[in-house]
Amino acid sequence: MKFEKEILCIGAGYVGGPTMAMIASKCPQYRVTVVDIIPEKIDQWNSADLPIYEPGLDKIVKQARGKNLFFSKDIGAGIKAADIVFVSVNTPTKTFGAGAGMAADLQYVEKTARQILEYSESSKIVVEKSTIPVRTAQAIKRILVSDKSDVHFEVLSNPEFLAEGTAMRDLENPDRVLIGSQETDSGLKARNELVEIYANWLPKDKIITSNIWSSELSKLVANAFLAQRISSINAVSSLCEETDADVGEVARAVGLDSRIGSKFLQASIGFGGSCFQKDLLNLVYLYCHYGLNEEADYWEGVLKINENQMDRFVKNMLRNMFNTLAGKRVCVFGFAFKANTGDTRNTPSLTVVEKLLAEQAEVAITDPKALDNAARDLKDAKGNYELISDPYEAAGGCHAIAIMTEWELYRDLDYQKIFDSMQKPAFIFDGRNIVDHDKLFEIGFNVFPIGKPKKVHF
Ligand SMILES: NC(=O)c1ccc[n+]([C@@H]2O[C@H](COP(=O)([O-])OP(=O)(O)OC[C@H]3O[C@@H](n4cnc5c(N)ncnc54)[C@H](O)[C@@H]3O)[C@@H](O)[C@H]2O)c1
Repeated sequence: MKFEKEILCIGAGYVGGPTMAMIASKCPQYRVTVVDIIPEKIDQWNSADLPIYEPGLDKIVKQARGKNLFFSKDIGAGIKAADIVFVSVNTPTKTFGAGAGMAADLQYVEKTARQILEYSESSKIVVEKSTIPVRTAQAIKRILVSDKSDVHFEVLSNPEFLAEGTAMRDLENPDRVLIGSQETDSGLKARNELVEIYANWLPKDKIITSNIWSSELSKLVANAFLAQRISSINAVSSLCEETDADVGEVARAVGLDSRIGSKFLQASIGFGGSCFQKDLLNLVYLYCHYGLNEEADYWEGVLKINENQMDRFVKNMLRNMFNTLAGKRVCVFGFAFKANTGDTRNTPSLTVVEKLLAEQAEVAITDPKALDNAARDLKDAKGNYELISDPYEAAGGCHAIAIMTEWELYRDLDYQKIFDSMQKPAFIFDGRNIVDHDKLFEIGFNVFPIGKPKKVHF
């Protein structure tokens, strides 16, 4: 079958896989290929057991795979055939050299640009899907025009706003799609081509366009605002704990102001995941680069509150469990950085587990989807820990439970059964405020929510 367009995505990760599966499923007239430098990842995408867990992803991949969605190891052939190349490679925080611990590590993006140049025999639109510092398109373009004057490349910015755990829903019905281009004739033409792809399933008013630098910056700013809201409500939660105010009631009262809105006002252990911290650090680095130090300090404060929230959580456990956790068994409910994903990158759970191990607690970790990743993340951890898939078994014999991930299943467990199997006094520290605190208190637990009055029996 002859397809109308050949679309390639470089990078078969949490963004590349789901976004391309959605494009393939909504646009049967296009052929969509996803490539990666890790061959095992491609094997997994071609198997029954996909490399990532995301509700709804399995179904969509299985429907389109082999028809107009392909996962391939042949990056060169993919580039040669493509009309449009999405770049969806990782852009982690740099761990070495200048800007270590803050700047984005752009080596994967740069290598991708060089690969595109090497294998291209015809003109292409190159789309930045990865989150990158503002003005990266310029660097990509410079590499792409450094050779082959007969081949034209147009670089667009099309940042991805999906959230893990709801990626398929977000892709199918996003708040908006943003496409940035250079405002030249060829830039605007390329931008329209990308608009037409999304218009296959989205109304045009959801597809917004801008200049390329605004588009690049918008992604960093969107994540900074989301993270800032979490840190803002978390900063309120500590004051609530001191004053017997209830952060849930405060959030409701504040969020009903239509200028503020009610979303993302849920106090918790703090944010994790591969994006918020990395993108905030990236933004702070950009401010510093331009000498805007006060603004850099402001955004850095969001990260400090987040770290402080995890620190406070463990100190609270320690203080309330008679100032020692040594030799005590603590059960950690959830290792994924949020519900409905197996992703554990920058998960608050890892930070909390490391702090518990440093206190010489014995830690039993349970999670429905993230235990393989937990095993990898904890392989160098010093201390006594176990990974147990059954939450009842994990909690048995423990002094305390710490709820780290808002998995629905943790709301509905038989807490009487769990209480009966635990050491007494039994403690529960709810880092997500998801369980019924009154009910647990009635059962006999000493209950410590985030930002709400504690409920204790002594
Ligand atoms: N994960 C999210 O929720 C999310 C949301 C929005 C935006 N983003 C951004 O999207 C980008 C990708 O994130 P991710 O979570 O999908 O990362 P990921 O690590 O899951 O996937 C990136 C993939 O790119 C591959 N890769 C790296 N260099 C390559 C090369 N030269 N050729 C072929 N493949 C290569 C890696 O092997 C990896 O499989 C990042 O910039 C991230 O900030 C992520």
